Amino acid sequence: MLARTHAFTIDGLQARHVCVEVDVRSGLPSFAIVGLADVAVREARERIQAAIRNAGYEFPARRITANLAPGDLPKAGPGLDLALACAVLAASGQLSRTLLERVALFGELALDGAVRASHGTLAVAEAAHRAGLSMLALAAPRAAEARLIDGLEVAVVGHLRSAVRLLEGGAASPPPRRRSRASPPRGAAVTEPDLAEVQGQRHAVRALVIAAAGGHHCLLSGPPGSGKTMLAHRLAGILPPLSAAEAIEVTRIHSLAGASPEGLVRRRPFRAPHHSATTAGLIGGARRGCVGEIVLAHNGVLFLDELSEFARATLEALRQPLEEGRVAIARARRSAVYPARFMLLAATNPCACGYAGEGERCACSEAELARHRRRLSGPLVDRMDLVVHLQRSGDAERGAAGTMSSAEARERVLLARERQLRRLAGEGLAVNAQMDARLLREHTALDADAEELMRRVRERAMLSMRGEHRVLRVARTIADLNSHARVGAHELGSALALRAEVGPASSRAA
Ligand SMILES: Nc1ncnc2c1ncn2[C@@H]1O[C@H](COP(=O)(O)OP(=O)(O)OP(=O)(O)O)[C@@H](O)[C@H]1O
Ligand SMILES: [Mg+2]
Repeated sequence: MLARTHAFTIDGLQARHVCVEVDVRSGLPSFAIVGLADVAVREARERIQAAIRNAGYEFPARRITANLAPGDLPKAGPGLDLALACAVLAASGQLSRTLLERVALFGELALDGAVRASHGTLAVAEAAHRAGLSMLALAAPRAAEARLIDGLEVAVVGHLRSAVRLLEGGAASPPPRRRSRASPPRGAAVTEPDLAEVQGQRHAVRALVIAAAGGHHCLLSGPPGSGKTMLAHRLAGILPPLSAAEAIEVTRIHSLAGASPEGLVRRRPFRAPHHSATTAGLIGGARRGCVGEIVLAHNGVLFLDELSEFARATLEALRQPLEEGRVAIARARRSAVYPARFMLLAATNPCACGYAGEGERCACSEAELARHRRRLSGPLVDRMDLVVHLQRSGDAERGAAGTMSSAEARERVLLARERQLRRLAGEGLAVNAQMDARLLREHTALDADAEELMRRVRERAMLSMRGEHRVLRVARTIADLNSHARVGAHELGSALALRAEVGPASSRAA
C-alpha cells in the first residue's frame, strides 16, 4: 500500500517542500530511503523503527521503500522523521489517510516516540503556508515561532501517538504550560548596561550615537582600560527595535541556526565573536545550515573586540559581505546566499603595548609601531566610517556624571532614523550608511560654508573618492541628529574629524 505525507527540509535560509512517499509491500523485511538523503535522514530508519514500536504500533516486517521527492533536492536533518513515521503507519493501514493531504509534519523522533523540535521552524511554517497546507504539526518548544505565520493552524504534538490522534481527527496535545516559575515573566525588563555609566569620553559617546543613528561602521581605538569594550556593549541598547519585517527575518535566521529563543526575536542582534574565531565561524562553513557570525549579526551589530588579534585572512573575508550586505557560500552541490547586512563595530589598542601616544610609557619600537599600523590599516579599516580615539580618563572625569543615558541616546537615534526613513524609504533603504553615490548627490545638500570647506578638502586631495563619500554619509547623519535639512560646515567638520588615522600618526611623539 502507498501513503504520502508532507514534510520540509532546510536549504540555505529557505525551507523546501518534500513529499514523503512510502510503499509497503510483501517481500523480505527491509526499509530503504531514497531521494538524496543526507546521513541524518538515513539514520532516521533506526529512530523510526524504534519510535513506532515503542509508541505501541507495529513496524511492518515487509519490504518498505520511502521516496523523498523531488529527487534532485538534497534532504538534510532529522526534521523529516515525523513525516516518515506517519507515512509508514498510513501505508501499513495503522493510520487513516484523510488528513495527511493537508497537514505538514515537522519534527525529529526520539526512540520512545517523543517528538523533538527541529531547527528552522519559522522557515518551515512560511513554506507550509505557501504550499497551501492548512496545518503544521510540530513539537511544543518551537510552536510559538510557527504561530507567527497568519493563516496557518499550528498543532502541538508531543509524541507520535498524539500525532496519530491528530491525524485521525482528534485534538492535538494540550498546549504547553507557559513557562516554569524559575524563568522570568515575559516582558520583564532585562537589566542592560547603560550609557550613563560611562564617565567622561564625551567624544566617543557622541560618536557611538552617530554610528547608531546612521548605521555606520565604527572603530574605537585607545589604551587599555579606557572603556572601549564598555562602550561597545552599550551600543545594542541605543539602537531602535527591529521592524516587523526585520524581526521575522532575524527570527528565521536564528531559528535555522538553532540560536533563537522562543517566539519572535525583537532585539537587534549583537554578536561579539572572540578574536580566535575562524573564517568559517565568522563567514559561514561549507556544512549545510552552518551560518556564520556575520549572518547571525544581520540587521544588528557585529562587534570585533581586539581587532588586531583577528587573523588577517579572516578579516579579509569580511570585505565582500561588507560591500554587498550578503554572503555567498559555495557548497559541494550548490551555493547558498545568506543576508549579512550588519553594523561593524571594532575596538583596538593603538599599538602592541597599548600606550602609543603617551610618551615614554609606550614600550614599542618604531618597527613594532609600524607593524601594528600595517595590521590595522588595509581594506577593512578603510571601510570604517568613524574612527574614534579614546584617551585615558583624566582625574576630572572620574566620578563625573555620564554624557547621556541610553534612553536619551535612543530617543535621539530614533528621531534621526525617522528623518532618514522619510528620505530613503522610496529607495528601499533605511539608513544613511546605505546611500550610494547617486543618493548622496541627491540627498546630501551642503550649505555655502560647508561647500567651501569641501572645496578646500578636495583642493588638498585629503580624501579618496571612497573616503569623501564616507565623510558625506556621516555628515548627513550628524545633520539628521541636529534636525537640519542641509549639512553645515560644523557638521562636515565633525565628520572629517571622525575619519582620523588609526593608531599614532607616526612615532611615539604623536
Ligand atoms: N570612561 C569610563 N567610565 C566608567 N568606567 C570605565 C571607563 N573606562 C573604563 N572603565 C572601567 O574599566 C573597565 C575596563 O574597561 P574596558 O574593558 O572597557 O577597557 P578597554 O578599553 O576595552 O581595555 P582593553 O584595551 O584592555 O580591552 C570597565 O569595565 C569599567 O569598569
Ligand atoms: Mg577591551
